[in-house]
Amino acid sequence: MSSLDSLGGSALGGTLYGIGVGPGDARYLTLRAAALVKAVDVVAYFAKRGRRGNARRIVESLMAPGRAELCFEYPVTDEVPADSADYRDQIGAFYRETSDALARLLREGKSVGLLAEGDPFFYGSFMHMWCRLESDFPVEVVPGVTGMSGCWTRANLPITWGDDTLAVLPGTLDEQQLVDRLRRTDAAVIMKVGRNLGKVRRAVEAAGLLPRAVYVERGTMENERVLPLADCHDATGAYFAMVLIPGQGRRI
Ligand SMILES: C[S@@+](CC[C@H](N)C(=O)[O-])C[C@H]1O[C@@H](n2cnc3c(N)ncnc32)[C@H](O)[C@@H]1O
Repeated sequence: MSSLDSLGGSALGGTLYGIGVGPGDARYLTLRAAALVKAVDVVAYFAKRGRRGNARRIVESLMAPGRAELCFEYPVTDEVPADSADYRDQIGAFYRETSDALARLLREGKSVGLLAEGDPFFYGSFMHMWCRLESDFPVEVVPGVTGMSGCWTRANLPITWGDDTLAVLPGTLDEQQLVDRLRRTDAAVIMKVGRNLGKVRRAVEAAGLLPRAVYVERGTMENERVLPLADCHDATGAYFAMVLIPGQGRRI
């Protein structure tokens, strides 16, 4: 019995695996994710143009020399507004080409592991492949430890207590929407902080939550930074950055 069979795996050929690789530290990969990274015919991943890709970096220690890999470079990332027609056109064409390339490999009977930072079904590019391919090919999604889970652990910050509600907000929302949502929740995670850091800081302050807010950059990765948001005076945040606001619910 192979290690994959013992983990509940079946025949790999022609299957697309969406592999959640966790928040950054390779030790947080699940057993299933690690086994699949080693076993699939092709390891595929998305990356910013000219970069190696964070998901690929996370699995480095599992990649034997000579493994077949496929890097899909985004034509644009955050230099073009995500709600613009230009972004939709460029990324739409890119996703079509990418899913066609994956479909060709799957039709040849190859198993493909498409890496996803954190969890594949949580703000992941993998989802755009999943919705194009899952009706025609076998797809298995392997859950991963989310970035937010890694970040609140590294910040030593229990996030929800008792009946606390938790809002997960993209920092790309406009400032007033952020303030309104923050006022209606007990605890919050603000993702996609990057270029939105100034706006996010103003919204957190306007909602009266600055004293509780923590900024986490590159949680569980090298060069991790954890500090009170009030002490973070950077003009922009890192791409891998989020703001955490812990709830204050029932403690017994
Ligand atoms: C496109 S989303 C991907 C989320 C990912 N699928 C997950 O499960 O966490 C990218 C955003 O996740 C957040 N993020 C993910 N991992 C992180 C980490 N290790 N440290 C800080 N932020 C992280 C950042 O806010 C980043 O802008």
